[in-house]
Formats: sequence, structure tokens, C-alpha cells
Amino acid sequence: MKYISVAVDGPAGAGKSSVSKAVAKSLGYTYIDTGAMYRAVALFAINNGIDAKNETEKLVSRLNEVEIDIKYTDEGQQIYLLGENVSKRIREEDVSVGASNVAVIPEVRKKLVELQRKMAESANVIMDGRDICSYVLPNADVKIFLTASAESRAKRRYDELCEKGIECDFEKIKADMEYRDKNDSQRAVAPLKKADDAILIDTTEYDFDGAVKLVKDLILEKTEG
Ligand code: CDP
Ligand code: CDP
Repeated sequence: MKYISVAVDGPAGAGKSSVSKAVAKSLGYTYIDTGAMYRAVALFAINNGIDAKNETEKLVSRLNEVEIDIKYTDEGQQIYLLGENVSKRIREEDVSVGASNVAVIPEVRKKLVELQRKMAESANVIMDGRDICSYVLPNADVKIFLTASAESRAKRRYDELCEKGIECDFEKIKADMEYRDKNDSQRAVAPLKKADDAILIDTTEYDFDGAVKLVKDLILEKTEG
């Protein structure tokens, strides 16, 4: 059986995960959050006292120890690192910046991309990240580049973290986001960039429900043709 795959890329806070999750629920697809996997590797480094930016070789030499499991419950994707549910911990700011640092390491990308491709083989999926359209699922049925202005992305992330009860400071979130935008777009391996065949959706002027509708309608148009 041929499964449908939808690839969504874009910068931090564009709405990729929340919009993809809602669309997946409505269409009965599986949502795969690849950023959570980079975050889990970053957390492994933090937990083991490895500075992912300056001790790359040390991290690479221990990559075989990094066991990531993903389970789907009514509350959505749950991510486990070495058997521990780290779904909430990986949303904290130190892990966000760490994820961007581990994501420049080719060996980390290779390990996670293999896992991601395998997951897309057995279900209809919406997968979001930075390199999904161009690299992970180059033959995806629908490719979307979701973005929004830097100010509104930082504001959204701030509101989201405050709401979840995670410590939040607007200026710090904005500065971390700028760091990640630059790091993610300028790295040598799989930089964040709109694929030529991806459809650009700018959600600056759309609220959450508006963005969900735009993406869902586009998927239906492309897949029901
Ligand atoms: O949710 P947010 O957009 O803030 O970040 P994320 O999607 O959870 O990704 C965290 C970090 O992982 C990003 O800043 C990227 O550096 C990296 N990442 C990546 O390089 N490739 C992916 N496919 C997904 C995430
Ligand atoms: O995954 P990504 O980093 O691209 O963004 P996200 O975590 O899905 O979205 C960040 C926050 O923005 C979430 O709380 C969304 O509910 C919110 N959002 C919004 O307010 N308006 C939109 N059009 C899209 C997302």
C-alpha cells in the first residue's frame, strides 16, 4: 500500500508542530515531530555533561548509547530518552539551543534521518522539521514551507511556554530564536531553506485556526486531486 506523506519545514515558532498536529488529527494521519528527536539528543548531551558545540567528537563517540523511542497516546507524541519520558523537559530553552547545536553534526543527522524515513514507511504521515521537503522525504506528496515574521514567532513561543508553566523571558526567547534561525540556515549540512517545490505559507496574519484550515485544504486539494 502506498501511504501519503506531507512534509512541513520552517523556522522556529512558525506553527509547524501545532498546525501539523491539528491537521493530522483531523485527517487521521500520524504526526511526526523530528525536532523532538534533535532535542532528545541535545538532552542526552546535557545529562552527560557534554558540550555539544565544543565537544562534538565526544558526543559522536557516544551516539550509539542514545536510545530514542516514540509512542503515540491520546496526548500525542511522547518521546522517551533511555526509557524516560522527556516530552516536557525537551521544550525548555537550554534544550532548544542545544538541539540547534547537535543538529549541525552529520552523524547525528544520519542517525535521526534513518529513524524518520522508517517511520514514514508504514502510515500516512505529516512530518515537520527543517530538511523534510528537501532531504528526508524528497518524494513527499505535499511539501509546505511554513513561516511567519520573527516578532510574531517569538511572541507565539513566549505565550506557549508561559501557558505550559515553563520559565519564559521574551527577550531571551527572541535572542535564542535569532541564534537558532541563523545557525539552522547557515549550517553546511541540511540547512533550513525552502525547497524549490515547497509551497510557501506565511501565517503572520493568520490565527491558529486559519493556519490549520489553509494547510488542511492544501493537502486535500493535492491528494484528492
Ligand atoms: O519547535 P521549534 O521550531 O522551536 O524547534 P524544533 O522543530 O523542535 O527543532 C529544534 C532544533 O532541531 C531546530 O532549531 C533545528 O536546529 C533542529 N532540527 C533540524 O535540524 N532538523 C529537523 N528536521 C528538525 C529540527
Ligand atoms: O513547531 P513550531 O516551532 O514551528 O511552532 P509551534 O510550536 O507549532 O507554534 C508555536 C505557538 O504558536 C503555538 O502555541 C501555536 O499554538 C501558536 N500559533 C499561533 O498562535 N498562530 C498560528 N498561526 C500558528 C501557531
